[in-house]
Amino acid sequence: MYFGVDYYPEHWVFPFSGTEQSPEARWVRDIELMVEAGVNVVRMGEFAWGLFEPEEGRFDFGWMKRAMDLLGEADIQIVLGTPTAAPPIWLTRKHPEVLPVDERGLTWREGTRRAVCMNSDIYWQYARKIVRAMAEALGQHPKLIAWQIDNGLGGHNMASSFNEEARRDWHAWLKAKYQTVENLNHMLGLRFWGQVVSDWDQVPMPQMAPADHNPALIVDWKRFCSDTIVAFARMQADTLRELTPDKPVTQNLRALYRDFDHFDMAEVIDFVSVDNNATLKHKAAEMACEVDMLRSLKKSGVRTPDGDSGFWVIEQKAGQVDWQEVNSLVRPGVARLFTYQQVARGACGVLYFLWRQPRFGVEKFYGGILTHDGRGDNRVYAEIKEIGLELKKLAPILKGTQIKAQVCILYSHDNDWSIRYTRQPNRFFRQREHVQLFYNALHDRNLAVDFARPTEDLSRYKIVIAPSLQLLAGGEADLLKLYVQNGGTLVGTFNTGLVDEHHIAPDSGYPHDMTDLFGLEVREFDPLPPGEENHFTLKGQLAGGTQHPAQLWCDLIETKGCQVLGAYADDFYAGRPAVTVNTFGLGRAIYIGTMSKPTFYNDLVVWLRQLCRIYPELKVPDTVQVSLRQKDGEKVYFLLNHHPTPARIAFVKPMQDYLTETTLSGNYDLPSHGVLVLRETLDASSGPVEAKTST
Ligand code: GAL
Repeated sequence: MYFGVDYYPEHWVFPFSGTEQSPEARWVRDIELMVEAGVNVVRMGEFAWGLFEPEEGRFDFGWMKRAMDLLGEADIQIVLGTPTAAPPIWLTRKHPEVLPVDERGLTWREGTRRAVCMNSDIYWQYARKIVRAMAEALGQHPKLIAWQIDNGLGGHNMASSFNEEARRDWHAWLKAKYQTVENLNHMLGLRFWGQVVSDWDQVPMPQMAPADHNPALIVDWKRFCSDTIVAFARMQADTLRELTPDKPVTQNLRALYRDFDHFDMAEVIDFVSVDNNATLKHKAAEMACEVDMLRSLKKSGVRTPDGDSGFWVIEQKAGQVDWQEVNSLVRPGVARLFTYQQVARGACGVLYFLWRQPRFGVEKFYGGILTHDGRGDNRVYAEIKEIGLELKKLAPILKGTQIKAQVCILYSHDNDWSIRYTRQPNRFFRQREHVQLFYNALHDRNLAVDFARPTEDLSRYKIVIAPSLQLLAGGEADLLKLYVQNGGTLVGTFNTGLVDEHHIAPDSGYPHDMTDLFGLEVREFDPLPPGEENHFTLKGQLAGGTQHPAQLWCDLIETKGCQVLGAYADDFYAGRPAVTVNTFGLGRAIYIGTMSKPTFYNDLVVWLRQLCRIYPELKVPDTVQVSLRQKDGEKVYFLLNHHPTPARIAFVKPMQDYLTETTLSGNYDLPSHGVLVLRETLDASSGPVEAKTST
């Protein structure tokens, strides 16, 4: 298990630390404090291009090598970040054409980070050169175990830029996709408003314009920008693999909201790393959802430095962030709780951002492990040290364990771009909120969840939930059918199959290519303004008799063989189906024609669980978050209390707590922010262990 910090040795030299005679003297003290805290890995270098190459072609990696040597003497392993997120000032002064242009045509200036157009050939050339130089100078260091490519690719709204080079690449991308201009006009529906083109170079980039751009063009633009970012990462990965083939490459990702296809990106890297501000959000389920999204990006072919199959949290925030209006302190125990949330969901490396609050620069009030004084007698350092000791204890048992989910939620970036960036029936609908409603209901019943894109092999899941796949390719619809045909249970919803991959609406009814699968056709849909509600009443097997609110969107469904499980209560479509189930092949396809509130999703999950015979990991009070890591013969349960009050757990059978090395039985009060790591060893004599709620 890797436990470490994000370290910026360049911040800790004379005159900010050290002495005139020995400018780097502080590094020694930093390393002593790291060792004391159980640190066994650091990440460094990701913003240091201007220091590695202070003038064009003059490289200086000596200082980093000295820092690496000192860390090495203390047996601390190293991950180096390639520094391309922060191009040096000399580069942008010499080649201002690398600066990004926004949709209004304005150039964004140098002086911070990320101020580059990802389509700039010049930027690519310089980036390739610094990555190569860095790998040649430092790549053979005995303590180097992995590379991080760039930092926060696509961040700071820099996933798109509208430079002339972007226009050139955009046209080439379209040409490769559509082959002929006729085809392009046809597939993008450019005859709408008469926007047909007669040559590739006439195709606009979706810049500031009086009315909305063509939705098919917008989604293609997003795909193109995504492909550009992924190609840039691939260029770096290829360069690094050529020079240091034995060092895996990673990248620090955030949960699917940057504008590139994270699943594509995961194919480029060897293992996934995560930036986590968990200490910021108090909604445990939202954070868990983000972790599960990122964990799911790479389900096979994972290559971590120690051969584990999980992911890393390469930036776990140790303290408060610095970019909110008010950056309150992170309360005692909270960093530990959220560290465990990551470990519980599969992390096999945790590095805290950042080692010490810098004395200068933008992020000087970002909460670090050490405060500005660097003494190491502060609260957060003491807390991190404790976590380090605990994780060291847990490392052997966690080795080789995995998360196994029987439920999967589908997510597609193309679909997300369609919903977020093209004109919508209901602007107030948020895909992420919809996903979260399903996720919360599963999370609160302690069911592990994977995320997948619709093209993945879904056969390993008992339940697949497909919330609002507005844009769905015909081939994807076929795969969903295949999944159900072979016995799977699919839950589809309103706002599904309204357009195909070319953003063309079907003339054969919604959801396109799946009316047979769901045994229904959506004849119309009625978007509702926020605050306005219809209702639907469930009947039969699914919580019969209960009424739930219907908000934001109501599908008007015509049945074609499905069974009705719930019908609307109000308006001119009162009595028409809102929830249905259809048998298809060996499986079933459930359709939910509206968006409701949490109690409905809870009822739904309870019913689905019985239907598909899925059992919760452990029975505990709702306020306790449970997850399970397992390997042959070994199950490790994590119980986390995110609530402000203690949670009473009644252990029906004794369980062993790894952290305190005690056996727990009978009633146990898990304190607020408390964590239990429980062991269940599977052998012939022991049945499944069960903890029950006291209520
Ligand atoms: C991350 C970045 C860090 C730091 C942090 C601030 O994306 O990698 O360097 O700037 O954001 O929230």
